[in-house]
Amino acid sequence: KIMASMEGLIGLMNRIQRACTALGDHGGGGDLPTLWESLPTIAVVGGQSSGKSSVLESIVGTDFLPRGSGIVTRRPLVLQLHQTDDGSQEYAGFLHMPQTRFTDFARVRQEIADETDRLTGKTKQISPVPIHLSIYSPKVVNLTLIDLPGLTKVAVEGQPESIVQDIENMVRSYVDKPNCIILAISPANQDIATSDAIKLAKEVDPTGERTFGVLTKLDLMDKGTNALDVLEGRAYRLQNPWVGIVNRSQADINRKVDMISAREKEREYFESSPDYAHLASRMGSEYLAKLLSEHLESVIKARIPSITAVINKTVDELESELDTIGRAVATDPGAQLYTILDLCRAFDRVFKEHLDGGRSGGDR
Ligand code: GDP
Ligand code: NA
Ligand code: MG
Repeated sequence: KIMASMEGLIGLMNRIQRACTALGDHGGGGDLPTLWESLPTIAVVGGQSSGKSSVLESIVGTDFLPRGSGIVTRRPLVLQLHQTDDGSQEYAGFLHMPQTRFTDFARVRQEIADETDRLTGKTKQISPVPIHLSIYSPKVVNLTLIDLPGLTKVAVEGQPESIVQDIENMVRSYVDKPNCIILAISPANQDIATSDAIKLAKEVDPTGERTFGVLTKLDLMDKGTNALDVLEGRAYRLQNPWVGIVNRSQADINRKVDMISAREKEREYFESSPDYAHLASRMGSEYLAKLLSEHLESVIKARIPSITAVINKTVDELESELDTIGRAVATDPGAQLYTILDLCRAFDRVFKEHLDGGRSGGDR
């Protein structure tokens, strides 16, 4: 019963996030947190080609992200996963095209690229305005992830020199927030001491309490070496356990190895590895997805009082804004305000029920 109501919380949070974007709230305001900023999120951080897109796709279990060399991700992608159990086919939808249901994920990939260009032009600039994508599937766990541009050390393809710093600033603006869970991706075939993800995570989260370390490319490590020091918590220790991953290689992608076989291959890799077999149940993308979903639920639960406070403030502000606009006028912005107001009230209600259930220590 508790699980069901927690799934409800993540679902409701997803809807509030979409409403925030519709209202132009994607953080970056003044001293007080905006509603968007008060919601817990998971941001995927790492250097270029560290395996971010691959990790995201294996968490989802579907290919849908644009690929290519250079800076492919140039706007944040807010990816909301909704688990379905009504036997319907997997599908996706964008907030900016509410009428369209995508069942062909090659078209999802194309639309991410097109929508990126619509805002940034073909100039390869970056923009902090997020794209919202929802995926509805029986294969996913309820989870919200934000894909961010890869950290880079040099500008390429005629990009302005400032892009290196611009990307770092944008990534930082997400991971700075105390309620941002950092999914820090590092490739195992490079020295972790040089990992951009770990470097940034250490800066903004020195105690490592909101950082999840992910080690990709375990299969590409030099023969005779392994990552046990990290995976068993002796080196680069964080509060949360490190998870090792084996994604598809470029050759696998070229041969069109599908996600199901890739997950299968990953599982076999860990189970049959002399180094990692004893850790097999705590490795791999499926385990990572479960770990993150459980963690997100517990974070939402712990933050109920503070989110409720921001929601109540937002409700007050929206009420007075509606009074100014005139409640009877069903203009577009007005309708959006009503939507977010309704959502906030629903959220508040679910929180209160949850608190009344006496499970969170009940300080209200
Ligand atoms: P991103 O730039 O961080 O999004 O990285 P990608 O996910 O696009 O991966 C970059 C390249 O590394 C691609 O060719 C992937 O196939 C490859 N790659 C990613 N993870 C792994 C892995 O665990 N093992 C192997 N062999 N290749 C990987
Ligand atoms: Na890439
Ligand atoms: Mg990528």
